[in-house]
Amino acid sequence: MAEKTAQLVTEYAEYLNTPWRKDFPVLQTLVHENKPLAFLDSAASAQKPVCVIEAMDEVLRSGYSNIHRGLYELSQNLSQAYEDVRRKISSFINALSDKNIVITRNATEGINLVAQSWGQVHLKAGDEILITEMEHHANIIPWVLLAGQIGVVLKVAPLLEDGTLDIEAFHDLIGEKTKLVSIVQVSNVLGVVNPVTEIIAKIRTFNSDIKVLVDGSQGIVHQGMDVQIIDPDFYVFTGHKIYGPTGVGVLYGKADVLEEMAPYQGGGDMIGQVSFTKGITYREPPYRFEAGTPPIVEVIGLGAALDYIDSIGMDNIIAHEHALSVYALDALQDIDGVNLYGTQDLTKKDGIFSFSVDGAHSSDVATILDQCGVAVRNGHHCAMPLMEALGIDSTVRASFGLYTNKDDIDALIAGLHKVKGFF
Ligand code: ALA
Repeated sequence: MAEKTAQLVTEYAEYLNTPWRKDFPVLQTLVHENKPLAFLDSAASAQKPVCVIEAMDEVLRSGYSNIHRGLYELSQNLSQAYEDVRRKISSFINALSDKNIVITRNATEGINLVAQSWGQVHLKAGDEILITEMEHHANIIPWVLLAGQIGVVLKVAPLLEDGTLDIEAFHDLIGEKTKLVSIVQVSNVLGVVNPVTEIIAKIRTFNSDIKVLVDGSQGIVHQGMDVQIIDPDFYVFTGHKIYGPTGVGVLYGKADVLEEMAPYQGGGDMIGQVSFTKGITYREPPYRFEAGTPPIVEVIGLGAALDYIDSIGMDNIIAHEHALSVYALDALQDIDGVNLYGTQDLTKKDGIFSFSVDGAHSSDVATILDQCGVAVRNGHHCAMPLMEALGIDSTVRASFGLYTNKDDIDALIAGLHKVKGFF
């Protein structure tokens, strides 16, 4: 072990081995017969703590029914529990009211909802939407589809060589025609943290009518969010990356903005009245945007995940992940032939490392690591324009969660030495 790494282990000892790991049953799993699992793919989807599994199990075993529709006890209780989670989400991101919280299927649906329900009503041909080169396809394609439908123009802010946003170029792209800026809080590929507070404040000084959407899919996990301080008009995130289940996500919207949006999908529970003779009315937000039976059990699971995070404290999670990042960075930089992408300034990035290994394709690296029990993602990470900007077609990505510990990083480093032995 390098001398600096040994020092770091002492300095960060308190944080490198997490007491929370035991809460995640799957992390006890052995893979490839007898190897401990080093799960380093939390950016794709995080593992679930036992409290989430139990909360969902409990509903399914003894509390399940549809919600908002039955006068009987089970339905009343579960409707109440579902709305309690809406309040919990609201308080988790410090929204003014639970009426700001739309339950969606995932972050992708949240962005598509804004593109269609807000974009179709408020934008016209020639209006501009500004995104960045580091966006996930989920924050690109909905705008491309909208552009095809109504002729809005998509502008893309470039990155600097270190993979951080070129803030000057970004500002230069904001003009008279800009109506919406949609930007990621933390890059899913490089872990780059965008200075969204400053970015939004600056946009407001240019033109307070420009709406801003922040994609918090990774950001909510590694940074948290305070919508009153950061002040986006829209904020989206998904449940499964924040230790909750798949199939549930959140769209936060400012009240006046949600109020002026058309329904997204039509169906049950989003209407006031439906009559072929007297006409049709829709409910107020957020219910107007929640057509059909929602992901009831998943919402309960998400509520348990947010309680779990609150019980640990976001500051403790941030400190833990920072310690791991310091340790991992030092160890990765120590291996000849491992090339890290993007800035490695840990004040500008978070818990996600993308890299390549000289002479080896990312899929070979990921396959050999898997044989060592190390789960990473490889490929373009649903961010092909970012790959193009970096001049590559893929990376290997190791991403951390609150349960990641020093042993996981050590397994990754040992695996990479093995990869090097092959190539
Ligand atoms: N967006 C997820 C990832 O970055 C799936 O892997």
